[in-house]
Amino acid sequence: MDYAFKERIGKPELFTGRKEELAYFLKWIDDIKEEKSQSTALLARRKMGKTALSERLFNITFFKNDGVIPFYYEVREAKMWVVDFCQDFFLTFIYQYIAFKSRKPGYLDPENRSDFGKTIEIAKQEGLDYLCGIIEGAAHAVAHEKIDILWNIAREAPKTIASRQKEYIVQMIDEFQFLNAMIYWDKDKKNPADTLAGGYLSTAESKIAPLLVSGSWVGWLMNLLKKMLPARFRYYPLENMPQDEAIEMVYKYSQFFDTPVTEETAYLIAKIAEGSPFYISSIFRSLYKRKDLCTAKGLTEILEFETLNNQGNIKLTWMEYVNAAFNKVNDRNAKKIVLHLFKHKGHELTRKEILDDLNLETSDEKLEEKMEALVKGDIIEQGVSNYRYRAVGDNIFDKVFRGVYQDEIEHFDVSVIKKEYARSFEKLKRQYRRLQGKYNYQKGYFAEYLILDELKYRARKNNEVLKSITRNLPEDFNFCAYEKVWRYDFAPEYSRGFNIDIFARAAAAGDYSIIGEVKSRDTRKFSKEEALDFERKLESVKKQEKIERAVGFIFSRSGFTKEAEEYCKEKGIACSENERWLGG
Ligand SMILES: Nc1ncnc2c1ncn2[C@@H]1O[C@H](COP(=O)(O)OP(=O)(O)OP(=O)(O)O)[C@@H](O)[C@H]1O
Ligand SMILES: [Mg+2]
Repeated sequence: MDYAFKERIGKPELFTGRKEELAYFLKWIDDIKEEKSQSTALLARRKMGKTALSERLFNITFFKNDGVIPFYYEVREAKMWVVDFCQDFFLTFIYQYIAFKSRKPGYLDPENRSDFGKTIEIAKQEGLDYLCGIIEGAAHAVAHEKIDILWNIAREAPKTIASRQKEYIVQMIDEFQFLNAMIYWDKDKKNPADTLAGGYLSTAESKIAPLLVSGSWVGWLMNLLKKMLPARFRYYPLENMPQDEAIEMVYKYSQFFDTPVTEETAYLIAKIAEGSPFYISSIFRSLYKRKDLCTAKGLTEILEFETLNNQGNIKLTWMEYVNAAFNKVNDRNAKKIVLHLFKHKGHELTRKEILDDLNLETSDEKLEEKMEALVKGDIIEQGVSNYRYRAVGDNIFDKVFRGVYQDEIEHFDVSVIKKEYARSFEKLKRQYRRLQGKYNYQKGYFAEYLILDELKYRARKNNEVLKSITRNLPEDFNFCAYEKVWRYDFAPEYSRGFNIDIFARAAAAGDYSIIGEVKSRDTRKFSKEEALDFERKLESVKKQEKIERAVGFIFSRSGFTKEAEEYCKEKGIACSENERWLGG
């Protein structure tokens, strides 16, 4: 599909999984048309993929063009005068709206986002004259610095337009917590506008333009929502990715960054990362020089680098949070407390237990203040009550923190951390072997990635072998060099799960591209209905990608029904069930 909005993830194909969340939010967005959806806060630990998910939701909603208009705004972490902020917020919305209505994605990234006159001109040009009034109103409020009026116009604009035009809009606001911290009443930026978010008290109740908010400081965001916007938002927690999606992500990144993995290390990476997309992506993007992701030893070295070295992306990212928090609560005791909670991972401790265990000479009030700041800074988590606290359930953050502070507090040798990684991998390897013993675990679940690998790295060399185990190929067919070998997600139909397992585009025009489907079921054979279904997908992809010369290919581990086999032969769709395709 055409991704109208440039996503930060980079190549759109890198986006993996999040099937459950996409299904949930696509339905939530669809339900806006029935006025059933309530404003929601997407909450998750840092770097869990909140932004990636929101941006993808924007693109799918934009592309679907099915009665809900998407608006995405990120409050930046930069000080801004409230008038400039309101103008930016308002015009970003107006341009996204114009882009949607005119079906011209170019407006998502306008050359000039500060000129009201130009915006009015464009609105007229696109036949959206009804926008002129509100744009003029905003321009007037900006010119006369009528701050309260301006913030009302800007904040309410999506709701106002939806209501007047009888339309529906989904408003996604990322980094929502900065609304109360980065905007200033005065041009000199001395007087913080720390009540702006409160304006959403009524706006967030809208059912025709509900909000989906998120932010990278979850403790802070929660605090803000609870204090300023009580009962206005539902909370949707975004968890770690499930194991199959995490492994799929490993294979995708492996292909994309040309960094091979083995079936075993793919499992180890997904497990050690605990399904965090950030850890998986950091492992593949690591600056560590001798990168080897085919052995547990190589993997340990990368993780050690990422955790302990100042160039490690994981360490750099986490230290940003740690530094911010300890700027506010900078004392040895706070660090001691965090280390102590790590030692009791999985358990919640009360303030009394913390005071007693560590022999702290401080009052309960002072301790509460300190703990609140640590929670707000995402260094620890609140337990089931305000009196209880726990360590974040993340094995890598824990090591970064200990790597930096444990020596200062307890004279600790950081080489222990390397040993801990090595021990974790030993344990995971044993798990992996047990799984393998059960059935051919990986080959079953990830057959398509093994075939993608085969096509990408070895198909030309193995041309004759692969041809001999694949039926119905054209006479003049040869495996060739492919410009791109990829899984293909056909996103407009995303919610219905339309995708193509294999998409290998031939590098040279005269060669055949391959568009394929992989089924790794143990018993049920590939049916004629499935073959018909596949043929339809094949035609759409050929059309979408403007490919003339392509071979359809079905790999089905459990074989084909007689009817399917005949149909494929008649249509020239290549078939195989031979496990040799899965490498090795
Ligand atoms: N579904 C996904 N598929 C592939 N990569 C992903 C996915 N989700 C996130 N990532 C990668 O993980 C990293 C973190 O993602 P993202 O920035 O979206 O998280 P976030 O929760 O918004 O982080 P923050 O807490 O900093 O706002 C990025 O490098 C992103 O490319
Ligand atoms: Mg984010």
